[in-house]
Amino acid sequence: MTTITTPITVRVPAKVNVQLAVGAARPDGFHDLANVFLAVGLYDEVTATPADTLRITAEGHDVDRIPLDRTNLAARAAELLAARHGIEPHVHLHIRKDIPVAGGMAGGSADAAAALLACDTLWSTGASRDELLDICAELGSDVPFSLVGGAALGRGRGELLTPLPVGGTFHWVFAVADGGLSTPAVYGEFDRLTAGTEVPEPEAAPELLAALEAGDATALAAALANDLQPAALSLRPSLTATLEAGTAAGALAALVSGSGPTTAFLVKDAESAGEVAAALLASGTCRQVRVADSPAVGARVL
Ligand code: C5P
Repeated sequence: MTTITTPITVRVPAKVNVQLAVGAARPDGFHDLANVFLAVGLYDEVTATPADTLRITAEGHDVDRIPLDRTNLAARAAELLAARHGIEPHVHLHIRKDIPVAGGMAGGSADAAAALLACDTLWSTGASRDELLDICAELGSDVPFSLVGGAALGRGRGELLTPLPVGGTFHWVFAVADGGLSTPAVYGEFDRLTAGTEVPEPEAAPELLAALEAGDATALAAALANDLQPAALSLRPSLTATLEAGTAAGALAALVSGSGPTTAFLVKDAESAGEVAAALLASGTCRQVRVADSPAVGARVL
């Protein structure tokens, strides 16, 4: 194994869940999902450089809210890969954050996938794609998708991926809320809201998959669905006003992104994206707006 001495930078996209069908809680506490992931063109970058010890630094929006110790998922990615290959995880990982922190857009998972690919390249471990995907699944339910990108159906707890065809470009506006939402807390609220009811088996909607494949934004808008949305709105009722502001401004559809609190607005074209973004900002119902297209490629060495 030869360690490369030049820094390796990996760019990795955010995601939105165009469908998040959630089943009942399993004995292990996770929920079976039919999770239709779509990668969107908002990116973090992780640069890996050889170092005397494992060290993490970060720059960008809200980086004061991410841990810079070994609890950061990017550090755990380096440790897991190093342990499997019998080497020390001596690397400096620098994270340039552009994906909203704790926003339901898989920013932490993206950084983990990027760190894994960057370290794998730096250390020339020769790990297969399947081994990398295995490590991703160990790190978290959304991490394999961050590596793969594009669009995919995630079964199990979201880690068992089947790539999906996408027949065109979809345009999005994202409204970033104040503060984050904890994913376990949102799943816990889902359990509380569905207690005593029969939670159906999660299934991907055929009309949603057809809309993706056709690149048909109007059909996709009609099929967008997030079973975690009632839970996210219950924990953060102010998001209702954000969803309404974007819809009133002409978005084709609005939904909470994953476990939130970022809200996602599907729009018909780039011009409409600009209008909806301006209206959302003017509404005062969010802290920041971002415009992005999908699909986007997964983690890539630059
Ligand atoms: O897999 P990950 O570490 O991202 O999951 C974070 C938390 O989200 C889990 O501890 C669990 O509470 C919840 N979760 C879940 N079912 C899933 C994925 C996540 O309940 N399929």
